[in-house]
Amino acid sequence: MVYSFLLAAAVISGPVANALSNGLAVTPPMGWNNWNSLGCDVSEDLILSTSQKLVDYGLQDVGYDHVVLDDCWQDVRGEDGYVTPNKQRFPNGMKPISDELHKKRFKYGMYSSAGEMTCARFAGSLDHETKDAENFANWGVDFLKYDNCYHMGRMGTPEISFNRFKVMADALKATGKDIALSLCSWGEDYVHTWGMSIAHSWRMSGDIYDSFTRPDDLCGCDVNNPADPFCIAPGTHCSVLFILNKVAPYSDRSIPGGWNDLDMLEVGQGGMTDEEYKAHFALWAALKSPLMLGNDLREMSAQTLSIINNPAIIALSQDPHGRSAQRVMRNVNVPKDEYGIGETHVWSGKLENGDQVVILLNAAGKDIDIKAPLSEIFVSEGPGGSSKEAKSDWEIWDLWADRMSDADAQSILDAKDLKTKTGIFKKLRWYNSAEKSYAAGLAQGDERLFGKKIGNVKASGALSVKVPRHAAKVYRLRRPGGAAKVHTEL
Ligand code: GAL
Repeated sequence: MVYSFLLAAAVISGPVANALSNGLAVTPPMGWNNWNSLGCDVSEDLILSTSQKLVDYGLQDVGYDHVVLDDCWQDVRGEDGYVTPNKQRFPNGMKPISDELHKKRFKYGMYSSAGEMTCARFAGSLDHETKDAENFANWGVDFLKYDNCYHMGRMGTPEISFNRFKVMADALKATGKDIALSLCSWGEDYVHTWGMSIAHSWRMSGDIYDSFTRPDDLCGCDVNNPADPFCIAPGTHCSVLFILNKVAPYSDRSIPGGWNDLDMLEVGQGGMTDEEYKAHFALWAALKSPLMLGNDLREMSAQTLSIINNPAIIALSQDPHGRSAQRVMRNVNVPKDEYGIGETHVWSGKLENGDQVVILLNAAGKDIDIKAPLSEIFVSEGPGGSSKEAKSDWEIWDLWADRMSDADAQSILDAKDLKTKTGIFKKLRWYNSAEKSYAAGLAQGDERLFGKKIGNVKASGALSVKVPRHAAKVYRLRRPGGAAKVHTEL
Protein backbone atom coordinates (compact mmCIF):
# COMPACT_ATOMS: atom_id res chain seq x y z
CA MET A 1 0.00 0.00 0.00
CA VAL A 2 1.24 3.49 -0.75
CA TYR A 3 -0.18 6.38 1.24
CA SER A 4 -2.17 8.91 -0.69
CA PHE A 5 0.12 11.84 0.16
CA LEU A 6 3.06 9.95 -1.22
CA LEU A 7 1.13 9.17 -4.36
CA ALA A 8 0.28 12.81 -4.82
CA ALA A 9 3.89 13.75 -4.25
CA ALA A 10 5.08 11.15 -6.72
CA VAL A 11 2.99 12.82 -9.36
CA ILE A 12 4.40 16.26 -8.68
CA SER A 13 8.01 15.30 -8.03
CA GLY A 14 10.42 16.24 -10.79
CA PRO A 15 12.17 19.31 -11.95
CA VAL A 16 9.37 21.83 -11.46
CA ALA A 17 7.33 20.84 -8.49
CA ASN A 18 6.36 23.46 -5.99
CA ALA A 19 3.61 26.00 -6.33
CA LEU A 20 6.05 28.62 -7.53
CA SER A 21 7.00 26.29 -10.37
CA ASN A 22 9.99 28.44 -11.15
CA GLY A 23 12.60 25.73 -11.23
CA LEU A 24 14.56 26.98 -8.21
CA ALA A 25 15.84 24.70 -5.42
CA VAL A 26 15.07 21.54 -7.36
CA THR A 27 17.50 19.87 -4.98
CA PRO A 28 18.13 21.18 -1.45
CA PRO A 29 20.22 24.37 -1.56
CA MET A 30 23.83 24.02 -0.38
CA GLY A 31 26.18 26.76 0.76
CA TRP A 32 27.54 28.69 3.70
CA ASN A 33 25.89 31.10 6.14
CA ASN A 34 27.75 33.19 8.70
CA TRP A 35 25.24 33.09 11.56
CA ASN A 36 26.13 29.95 13.54
CA SER A 37 29.81 30.78 13.91
CA LEU A 38 30.02 34.55 13.55
CA GLY A 39 26.63 36.02 14.42
CA CYS A 40 26.66 39.77 13.77
CA ASP A 41 30.38 39.93 12.97
CA VAL A 42 29.76 40.39 9.25
CA SER A 43 31.57 42.38 6.58
CA GLU A 44 32.36 42.50 2.89
CA ASP A 45 35.72 41.00 3.64
CA LEU A 46 34.18 38.05 5.51
CA ILE A 47 31.78 37.25 2.68
CA LEU A 48 34.35 37.49 -0.09
CA SER A 49 37.18 35.78 1.75
CA THR A 50 34.85 32.94 2.75
CA SER A 51 33.73 32.49 -0.84
CA GLN A 52 37.41 32.12 -1.77
CA LYS A 53 37.79 29.47 0.92
CA LEU A 54 34.85 27.58 -0.56
CA VAL A 55 36.75 27.57 -3.85
CA ASP A 56 40.18 26.80 -2.37
CA TYR A 57 38.99 23.90 -0.26
CA GLY A 58 37.06 22.31 -3.12
CA LEU A 59 33.76 22.89 -1.37
CA GLN A 60 32.19 24.76 -4.25
CA ASP A 61 33.14 21.82 -6.45
CA VAL A 62 31.21 19.39 -4.28
CA GLY A 63 28.11 21.59 -4.41
CA TYR A 64 28.27 24.43 -1.88
CA ASP A 65 27.32 27.22 -4.24
CA HIS A 66 25.41 29.71 -2.04
CA VAL A 67 27.06 32.34 0.13
CA VAL A 68 24.49 33.72 2.55
CA LEU A 69 24.86 36.88 4.58
CA ASP A 70 22.59 36.64 7.63
CA ASP A 71 21.36 39.37 10.01
CA CYS A 72 23.19 42.60 10.95
CA TRP A 73 24.14 43.88 7.49
CA GLN A 74 21.73 46.81 7.77
CA ASP A 75 22.16 50.44 8.68
CA VAL A 76 18.70 52.07 8.96
CA ARG A 77 15.66 52.57 6.79
CA GLY A 78 16.06 55.97 5.15
CA GLU A 79 13.39 58.57 4.54
CA ASP A 80 12.96 57.24 1.03
CA GLY A 81 11.84 53.93 2.55
CA TYR A 82 14.90 51.92 1.49
CA VAL A 83 17.29 50.21 3.90
CA THR A 84 20.96 50.95 3.37
CA PRO A 85 23.77 48.57 4.29
CA ASN A 86 26.05 49.39 7.21
CA LYS A 87 28.79 51.60 5.76
CA GLN A 88 31.61 50.38 7.98
CA ARG A 89 30.96 46.75 7.28
CA PHE A 90 29.93 47.11 3.65
CA PRO A 91 31.69 50.26 2.39
CA ASN A 92 30.97 49.43 -1.25
CA GLY A 93 27.36 48.38 -0.76
CA MET A 94 25.95 45.04 -1.81
CA LYS A 95 26.09 45.06 -5.61
CA PRO A 96 29.88 44.67 -5.89
CA ILE A 97 29.66 41.72 -3.51
CA SER A 98 27.07 39.92 -5.58
CA ASP A 99 28.97 40.78 -8.79
CA GLU A 100 32.10 39.23 -7.36
CA LEU A 101 30.23 36.16 -6.15
CA HIS A 102 28.53 35.70 -9.49
CA LYS A 103 31.87 35.99 -11.24
CA LYS A 104 32.99 33.07 -9.11
CA ARG A 105 29.80 31.10 -9.98
CA PHE A 106 28.21 31.54 -6.54
CA LYS A 107 24.67 32.54 -5.68
CA TYR A 108 24.28 35.43 -3.24
CA GLY A 109 21.94 35.04 -0.27
CA MET A 110 20.73 37.77 2.05
CA TYR A 111 18.48 38.03 5.08
CA SER A 112 15.52 39.96 6.41
CA SER A 113 12.58 39.38 8.74
CA ALA A 114 8.80 39.43 8.27
CA GLY A 115 8.64 41.73 11.26
CA GLU A 116 9.15 45.36 12.17
CA MET A 117 12.70 44.39 13.20
CA THR A 118 15.01 41.52 12.45
CA CYS A 119 15.98 39.23 15.32
CA ALA A 120 19.08 41.34 15.96
CA ARG A 121 16.78 44.41 15.93
CA PHE A 122 17.64 46.02 12.65
CA ALA A 123 14.98 47.28 10.24
CA GLY A 124 12.64 44.43 9.28
CA SER A 125 10.66 44.10 6.07
CA LEU A 126 7.11 43.89 7.42
CA ASP A 127 5.01 46.45 5.51
CA HIS A 128 8.10 47.42 3.48
CA GLU A 129 8.23 44.31 1.34
CA THR A 130 8.07 46.00 -2.06
CA LYS A 131 11.01 48.32 -1.47
CA ASP A 132 13.08 45.67 0.23
CA ALA A 133 12.45 43.20 -2.57
CA GLU A 134 13.47 45.89 -5.07
CA ASN A 135 16.69 46.37 -3.12
CA PHE A 136 17.42 42.66 -3.14
CA ALA A 137 16.76 42.36 -6.85
CA ASN A 138 18.88 45.42 -7.66
CA TRP A 139 21.70 44.07 -5.56
CA GLY A 140 21.66 40.80 -7.51
CA VAL A 141 20.45 38.67 -4.63
CA ASP A 142 19.51 35.08 -5.56
CA PHE A 143 18.25 33.75 -2.23
CA LEU A 144 16.44 35.40 0.67
CA LYS A 145 16.37 33.95 4.17
CA TYR A 146 13.24 35.47 5.65
CA ASP A 147 12.92 35.40 9.44
CA ASN A 148 10.05 35.68 11.87
CA CYS A 149 11.06 38.05 14.68
CA TYR A 150 8.97 41.04 15.78
CA HIS A 151 5.97 40.11 13.70
CA MET A 152 3.73 42.54 15.58
CA GLY A 153 1.37 39.78 16.62
CA ARG A 154 0.58 38.76 13.07
CA MET A 155 0.74 35.05 13.79
CA GLY A 156 -1.35 32.47 15.57
CA THR A 157 -3.06 30.73 12.66
CA PRO A 158 -1.59 29.24 9.50
CA GLU A 159 -3.56 31.74 7.44
CA ILE A 160 -2.27 34.82 9.27
CA SER A 161 1.34 33.65 8.98
CA PHE A 162 0.87 32.54 5.38
CA ASN A 163 -0.49 35.93 4.39
CA ARG A 164 2.32 37.78 6.15
CA PHE A 165 5.04 35.76 4.41
CA LYS A 166 3.23 35.75 1.08
CA VAL A 167 3.57 39.52 0.76
CA MET A 168 7.33 39.09 0.43
CA ALA A 169 6.97 36.11 -1.92
CA ASP A 170 4.79 38.27 -4.18
CA ALA A 171 7.12 41.25 -3.92
CA LEU A 172 10.09 39.11 -4.92
CA LYS A 173 8.15 37.71 -7.86
CA ALA A 174 7.16 41.20 -8.94
CA THR A 175 10.81 42.18 -9.31
CA GLY A 176 11.09 39.68 -12.18
CA LYS A 177 14.33 38.31 -10.76
CA ASP A 178 14.57 34.68 -9.67
CA ILE A 179 15.07 34.81 -5.92
CA ALA A 180 14.66 31.64 -3.88
CA LEU A 181 12.72 32.21 -0.67
CA SER A 182 13.82 30.45 2.50
CA LEU A 183 11.28 30.91 5.30
CA CYS A 184 12.67 31.03 8.80
CA SER A 185 9.44 30.79 10.77
CA TRP A 186 10.76 28.09 13.11
CA GLY A 187 7.95 25.60 12.38
CA GLU A 188 5.38 28.08 13.63
CA ASP A 189 1.75 27.98 12.49
CA TYR A 190 2.20 24.62 10.75
CA VAL A 191 4.49 26.10 8.11
CA HIS A 192 5.12 22.61 6.69
CA THR A 193 1.50 22.64 5.50
CA TRP A 194 1.68 25.94 3.57
CA GLY A 195 5.34 26.84 3.07
CA MET A 196 5.56 25.01 -0.22
CA SER A 197 2.92 27.28 -1.77
CA ILE A 198 5.13 30.34 -1.53
CA ALA A 199 8.68 29.32 -0.67
CA HIS A 200 11.52 26.95 -1.44
CA SER A 201 12.23 25.89 2.13
CA TRP A 202 10.86 26.47 5.60
CA ARG A 203 12.49 26.05 8.98
CA MET A 204 10.93 23.31 11.07
CA SER A 205 12.22 24.23 14.54
CA GLY A 206 13.79 26.82 16.77
CA ASP A 207 17.48 27.51 16.25
CA ILE A 208 19.92 24.64 16.28
CA TYR A 209 22.85 24.70 18.70
CA ASP A 210 26.09 22.79 18.79
CA SER A 211 24.91 19.81 20.83
CA PHE A 212 23.85 16.32 19.82
CA THR A 213 21.26 15.55 22.52
CA ARG A 214 21.42 18.12 25.33
CA PRO A 215 17.93 19.41 26.17
CA ASP A 216 17.69 23.11 26.91
CA ASP A 217 14.79 25.17 28.23
CA LEU A 218 15.35 27.78 25.53
CA CYS A 219 14.33 25.23 22.90
CA GLY A 220 10.80 25.65 24.13
CA CYS A 221 8.80 22.80 22.67
CA ASP A 222 8.20 19.32 23.94
CA VAL A 223 8.19 17.19 20.81
CA ASN A 224 7.32 14.10 22.78
CA ASN A 225 4.13 15.66 24.06
CA PRO A 226 1.40 14.91 21.53
CA ALA A 227 -0.56 17.88 22.82
CA ASP A 228 2.29 20.23 21.99
CA PRO A 229 3.95 19.25 18.72
CA PHE A 230 3.89 22.89 17.65
CA CYS A 231 4.43 25.21 20.53
CA ILE A 232 4.15 28.91 21.03
CA ALA A 233 7.84 29.68 21.40
CA PRO A 234 10.05 27.52 19.19
CA GLY A 235 13.11 29.21 20.71
CA THR A 236 16.77 28.46 20.31
CA HIS A 237 19.31 25.94 21.68
CA CYS A 238 17.70 22.99 19.92
CA SER A 239 19.87 19.87 19.72
CA VAL A 240 20.34 17.71 16.65
CA LEU A 241 18.21 14.98 18.23
CA PHE A 242 15.46 17.42 19.16
CA ILE A 243 15.21 18.66 15.58
CA LEU A 244 15.10 15.12 14.21
CA ASN A 245 12.28 14.26 16.58
CA LYS A 246 10.42 17.40 15.61
CA VAL A 247 10.67 16.77 11.88
CA ALA A 248 10.08 13.00 11.96
CA PRO A 249 6.28 13.08 11.55
CA TYR A 250 6.53 15.62 8.73
CA SER A 251 9.58 14.41 6.84
CA ASP A 252 7.42 13.52 3.83
CA ARG A 253 6.54 17.18 3.24
CA SER A 254 9.78 17.91 1.39
CA ILE A 255 9.47 17.81 -2.38
CA PRO A 256 11.71 19.08 -5.18
CA GLY A 257 11.37 22.86 -5.07
CA GLY A 258 10.22 23.00 -1.43
CA TRP A 259 12.14 21.57 1.50
CA ASN A 260 11.87 21.13 5.26
CA ASP A 261 14.77 23.16 6.65
CA LEU A 262 16.36 21.55 9.71
CA ASP A 263 18.53 24.67 10.20
CA MET A 264 22.14 25.35 9.34
CA LEU A 265 24.91 22.88 10.06
CA GLU A 266 26.98 22.93 13.24
CA VAL A 267 29.70 20.64 11.86
CA GLY A 268 33.11 21.92 12.90
CA GLN A 269 31.94 24.28 15.64
CA GLY A 270 33.59 22.28 18.42
CA GLY A 271 30.69 21.19 20.65
CA MET A 272 30.21 17.70 19.24
CA THR A 273 32.45 14.72 18.58
CA ASP A 274 33.54 13.62 15.14
CA GLU A 275 30.96 10.79 15.17
CA GLU A 276 28.20 13.17 16.24
CA TYR A 277 29.05 15.58 13.44
CA LYS A 278 29.09 12.73 10.91
CA ALA A 279 25.65 11.65 12.09
CA HIS A 280 24.32 15.24 12.01
CA PHE A 281 25.62 15.80 8.49
CA ALA A 282 24.37 12.51 7.07
CA LEU A 283 20.91 12.90 8.57
CA TRP A 284 20.57 16.47 7.26
CA ALA A 285 21.54 15.14 3.83
CA ALA A 286 19.19 12.15 3.88
CA LEU A 287 16.32 14.26 5.21
CA LYS A 288 16.84 16.72 2.35
CA SER A 289 17.42 19.74 4.53
CA PRO A 290 19.27 22.59 2.87
CA LEU A 291 22.96 22.04 3.66
CA MET A 292 24.25 25.40 4.82
CA LEU A 293 27.67 25.16 6.41
CA GLY A 294 27.74 27.15 9.64
CA ASN A 295 31.38 26.93 10.65
CA ASP A 296 34.08 29.57 10.22
CA LEU A 297 35.96 28.31 7.17
CA ARG A 298 39.01 30.37 8.09
CA GLU A 299 39.73 28.02 10.95
CA MET A 300 38.58 24.65 9.77
CA SER A 301 40.16 21.34 10.80
CA ALA A 302 40.98 18.47 8.46
CA GLN A 303 38.32 16.34 10.18
CA THR A 304 35.66 18.95 9.52
CA LEU A 305 36.61 19.25 5.87
CA SER A 306 36.49 15.49 5.39
CA ILE A 307 32.96 15.35 6.80
CA ILE A 308 31.44 18.12 4.72
CA ASN A 309 33.16 17.15 1.47
CA ASN A 310 32.06 13.51 1.38
CA PRO A 311 30.39 13.15 -2.04
CA ALA A 312 28.74 9.84 -1.13
CA ILE A 313 26.80 11.63 1.62
CA ILE A 314 26.11 14.77 -0.42
CA ALA A 315 24.71 12.55 -3.18
CA LEU A 316 21.93 11.59 -0.75
CA SER A 317 20.98 15.24 -0.46
CA GLN A 318 21.15 15.94 -4.17
CA ASP A 319 19.47 12.71 -5.28
CA PRO A 320 16.98 13.56 -8.05
CA HIS A 321 14.20 11.57 -6.41
CA GLY A 322 14.02 14.43 -3.92
CA ARG A 323 12.18 12.74 -1.07
CA SER A 324 13.30 12.67 2.54
CA ALA A 325 14.21 9.52 4.41
CA GLN A 326 11.51 8.63 6.91
CA ARG A 327 11.97 7.37 10.43
CA VAL A 328 10.75 3.78 10.41
CA MET A 329 11.85 2.66 13.90
CA ARG A 330 12.42 4.41 17.22
CA ASN A 331 13.40 2.75 20.49
CA VAL A 332 13.47 4.78 23.70
CA ASN A 333 14.09 1.81 25.98
CA VAL A 334 17.86 2.05 25.79
CA PRO A 335 20.52 3.31 28.23
CA LYS A 336 20.46 7.06 28.79
CA ASP A 337 23.35 9.43 28.18
CA GLU A 338 24.69 12.08 30.56
CA TYR A 339 21.67 14.30 29.82
CA GLY A 340 19.13 11.58 30.57
CA ILE A 341 18.47 11.16 26.85
CA GLY A 342 18.57 7.78 25.14
CA GLU A 343 17.02 6.53 21.94
CA THR A 344 17.85 4.79 18.71
CA HIS A 345 16.32 5.42 15.30
CA VAL A 346 16.25 3.76 11.93
CA TRP A 347 15.72 6.13 9.00
CA SER A 348 15.04 4.79 5.53
CA GLY A 349 14.53 6.45 2.17
CA LYS A 350 14.08 5.67 -1.47
CA LEU A 351 16.68 6.92 -3.93
CA GLU A 352 16.40 7.64 -7.64
CA ASN A 353 18.27 4.59 -8.89
CA GLY A 354 16.33 2.10 -6.77
CA ASP A 355 18.85 2.05 -3.91
CA GLN A 356 17.63 2.64 -0.38
CA VAL A 357 19.44 4.83 2.15
CA VAL A 358 19.35 3.41 5.66
CA ILE A 359 20.67 5.26 8.70
CA LEU A 360 21.01 3.55 12.06
CA LEU A 361 21.26 6.28 14.69
CA ASN A 362 22.41 5.65 18.23
CA ALA A 363 21.58 8.61 20.47
CA ALA A 364 21.87 6.58 23.65
CA GLY A 365 24.43 6.35 26.45
CA LYS A 366 26.05 3.08 25.31
CA ASP A 367 27.08 1.25 22.15
CA ILE A 368 24.01 -0.62 20.90
CA ASP A 369 23.24 -3.43 18.45
CA ILE A 370 20.60 -1.96 16.21
CA LYS A 371 18.53 -4.41 14.26
CA ALA A 372 16.59 -3.16 11.26
CA PRO A 373 14.51 -5.77 9.40
CA LEU A 374 13.87 -5.27 5.69
CA SER A 375 10.17 -5.33 6.53
CA GLU A 376 10.62 -2.05 8.40
CA ILE A 377 13.17 -0.56 6.03
CA PHE A 378 10.68 -1.01 3.19
CA VAL A 379 7.52 -0.32 5.16
CA SER A 380 6.52 2.40 2.69
CA GLU A 381 6.36 -0.19 -0.06
CA GLY A 382 4.07 -2.37 2.03
CA PRO A 383 3.90 -2.99 5.81
CA GLY A 384 4.52 -6.42 7.27
CA GLY A 385 7.29 -7.38 4.88
CA SER A 386 4.81 -7.75 2.03
CA SER A 387 6.73 -5.70 -0.53
CA LYS A 388 8.91 -7.23 -3.20
CA GLU A 389 11.77 -5.07 -1.90
CA ALA A 390 11.58 -6.69 1.55
CA LYS A 391 11.64 -10.06 -0.14
CA SER A 392 14.80 -9.29 -2.13
CA ASP A 393 18.49 -9.69 -1.36
CA TRP A 394 20.49 -6.49 -0.90
CA GLU A 395 24.11 -5.45 -0.76
CA ILE A 396 25.18 -3.10 2.02
CA TRP A 397 27.38 -0.16 1.03
CA ASP A 398 29.01 2.00 3.70
CA LEU A 399 28.86 5.66 2.68
CA TRP A 400 31.59 6.82 5.06
CA ALA A 401 34.09 4.19 3.87
CA ASP A 402 35.81 6.52 1.40
CA ARG A 403 36.01 9.55 3.68
CA MET A 404 39.04 11.66 2.77
CA SER A 405 42.04 10.92 5.01
CA ASP A 406 43.13 13.50 7.59
CA ALA A 407 46.48 13.85 5.80
CA ASP A 408 44.87 14.60 2.45
CA ALA A 409 42.37 17.01 3.99
CA GLN A 410 45.19 18.76 5.81
CA SER A 411 47.21 19.06 2.60
CA ILE A 412 44.24 20.80 0.97
CA LEU A 413 43.93 23.19 3.89
CA ASP A 414 47.67 23.88 3.71
CA ALA A 415 47.95 24.22 -0.09
CA LYS A 416 49.46 27.61 -0.82
CA ASP A 417 48.43 28.01 -4.44
CA LEU A 418 45.86 26.95 -6.95
CA LYS A 419 48.23 24.61 -8.79
CA THR A 420 49.04 22.61 -5.65
CA LYS A 421 45.39 22.44 -4.70
CA THR A 422 44.28 21.34 -8.15
CA GLY A 423 47.00 18.71 -8.17
CA ILE A 424 45.76 17.25 -4.89
CA PHE A 425 42.16 17.00 -6.05
CA LYS A 426 43.31 15.43 -9.29
CA LYS A 427 45.43 12.88 -7.51
CA LEU A 428 42.54 12.02 -5.22
CA ARG A 429 40.10 11.95 -8.14
CA TRP A 430 37.73 13.82 -5.86
CA TYR A 431 34.17 14.22 -7.08
CA ASN A 432 33.46 17.52 -8.83
CA SER A 433 29.76 18.25 -9.21
CA ALA A 434 30.45 21.29 -11.36
CA GLU A 435 31.92 18.90 -13.95
CA LYS A 436 29.46 16.08 -13.41
CA SER A 437 26.18 16.69 -11.59
CA TYR A 438 25.17 14.31 -8.83
CA ALA A 439 22.22 13.25 -11.00
CA ALA A 440 24.62 12.24 -13.80
CA GLY A 441 27.08 10.56 -11.44
CA LEU A 442 24.32 8.56 -9.79
CA ALA A 443 22.79 7.56 -13.12
CA GLN A 444 26.20 6.37 -14.33
CA GLY A 445 26.96 4.52 -11.10
CA ASP A 446 30.07 6.64 -10.47
CA GLU A 447 31.96 4.72 -7.80
CA ARG A 448 32.77 7.86 -5.84
CA LEU A 449 29.12 8.25 -4.82
CA PHE A 450 28.59 4.78 -3.40
CA GLY A 451 31.16 4.17 -0.66
CA LYS A 452 32.23 0.54 -0.21
CA LYS A 453 30.43 -2.76 -0.13
CA ILE A 454 30.65 -4.24 3.36
CA GLY A 455 28.18 -7.12 3.29
CA ASN A 456 24.79 -8.46 2.28
CA VAL A 457 21.36 -8.83 3.70
CA LYS A 458 19.21 -11.76 2.64
CA ALA A 459 15.60 -11.54 1.49
CA SER A 460 13.24 -11.00 4.45
CA GLY A 461 16.32 -10.62 6.66
CA ALA A 462 17.60 -7.77 8.78
CA LEU A 463 20.54 -5.46 9.09
CA SER A 464 22.11 -5.94 12.46
CA VAL A 465 24.90 -3.58 13.38
CA LYS A 466 26.71 -2.44 16.51
CA VAL A 467 26.54 1.34 16.49
CA PRO A 468 28.76 3.26 18.91
CA ARG A 469 27.06 5.67 21.33
CA HIS A 470 26.21 9.03 19.77
CA ALA A 471 26.96 7.89 16.24
CA ALA A 472 25.22 6.73 13.09
CA LYS A 473 25.89 4.11 10.44
CA VAL A 474 24.95 5.30 6.98
CA TYR A 475 24.32 2.77 4.24
CA ARG A 476 23.00 2.39 0.77
CA LEU A 477 21.23 -0.88 0.14
CA ARG A 478 21.93 -1.87 -3.45
CA ARG A 479 20.57 -4.67 -5.54
CA PRO A 480 23.09 -7.49 -5.98
CA GLY A 481 25.26 -6.81 -8.98
CA GLY A 482 24.35 -3.13 -8.86
CA ALA A 483 27.88 -2.28 -7.82
CA ALA A 484 29.31 1.04 -8.88
CA LYS A 485 30.51 0.69 -12.41
CA VAL A 486 32.18 3.85 -13.59
CA HIS A 487 35.88 4.09 -12.88
CA THR A 488 36.65 7.62 -13.84
CA GLU A 489 39.95 8.07 -15.62
CA LEU A 490 41.58 11.42 -15.03
C1 GAL B 1 16.98 33.69 14.15
C2 GAL B 1 17.24 32.68 13.07
C3 GAL B 1 18.73 32.45 12.99
C4 GAL B 1 19.41 33.76 12.64
C5 GAL B 1 19.03 34.84 13.65
C6 GAL B 1 19.53 36.21 13.21
O1 GAL B 1 15.62 33.92 14.26
O2 GAL B 1 16.54 31.50 13.36
O3 GAL B 1 19.03 31.44 12.04
O4 GAL B 1 19.04 34.14 11.35
O5 GAL B 1 17.63 34.91 13.81
O6 GAL B 1 19.21 37.24 14.11
